[in-house]
Amino acid sequence: MAFEKNSALFQSFVMQRPQMGQVLGVPLDQNICDAWNDIWNFRAHPEDVLLASYPKAGITWMQEVVDMIYQEGDTNKCLRAPTYDRHPFLEAVPPKPVPSGLQLAEEMEPPRVLKTHLPIQLIPPSFWKQNCKVIYVARNAKDTLVSYFHFQRMTKGLPDPGTWDDYFMAFLSGTLPWGSWFDHVNGWWKAKDKHRVLYVFYEDMKKDLRLEIQRVESFLDKDLPEEVLEKICQHTTFQAMKENPMANYTTMPTTVMDQSVSPFMRKGIVGDWKNHFLVAQNELFDWEYKRRMDGTGLDFCTQI
Ligand code: A3P
Repeated sequence: MAFEKNSALFQSFVMQRPQMGQVLGVPLDQNICDAWNDIWNFRAHPEDVLLASYPKAGITWMQEVVDMIYQEGDTNKCLRAPTYDRHPFLEAVPPKPVPSGLQLAEEMEPPRVLKTHLPIQLIPPSFWKQNCKVIYVARNAKDTLVSYFHFQRMTKGLPDPGTWDDYFMAFLSGTLPWGSWFDHVNGWWKAKDKHRVLYVFYEDMKKDLRLEIQRVESFLDKDLPEEVLEKICQHTTFQAMKENPMANYTTMPTTVMDQSVSPFMRKGIVGDWKNHFLVAQNELFDWEYKRRMDGTGLDFCTQI
């Protein structure tokens, strides 16, 4: 039974920030850890498509693009439900009576589009056994960190971020929820040579959205006419998504996401890190970045 988003119960829903636990050394919400057995044993269908990313890399953007592709540019169909109901968040274990990601997925008919923030080593093995397609979205570390900090300020679904300085160090040491950004992007980068993984950069979507949509379209074996492609581009701009209640998370109760603290669709730009990083922080970050990323073959752009 779907949980009615406009019900008084939902709107009065109060959420406590979660305790953190670990699965195989990866920091995760304790509720996810408690449900881990079921998550790990998730049964994927060969037609399922998994959308994966480290938090705040732009997965909501990709969800809208993929939904528009599946709905062949029919915006009304994409307005049928909020993002989080259209694409179950695989490992999400919200407090009852909100359904978990697994429950939502089980209620859906394949082909399902599912979302995850899990690092590669924690992806339920069924996805690989079924040879499912995965679209991974990666965003440069500095902007991801800034976006994640503001997100943790506004959502009760994650621990309090603390001060910017502490948060900055936690990001570098890999202790934020879902673990190390470095391990995440590198793990998935290697996985693309082994599995059906399309690796997409947020910055490339900012530079040329049409081109990246075309890449996604052909990965999904779709061939849409030019006017549909144009419609998808228009529907998935930052401004369009910021104004779209089915994409901007304003359907969440304010007790879960308080958009007066920071909007979910915050800035949507490349290079906002320059407004946050102190000179010394930037030097430390660059030093650690070089140490972790040299030789990986991964090249991110931090300004356009
Ligand atoms: P900012 O906080 O930097 O604005 P996720 O969906 O993975 O949680 O990522 C959210 C980030 O993606 C936010 O970044 C959000 O503004 C940005 N985003 C969402 N839709 C976007 C779009 N259409 N264009 C550009 N950025 C978008």
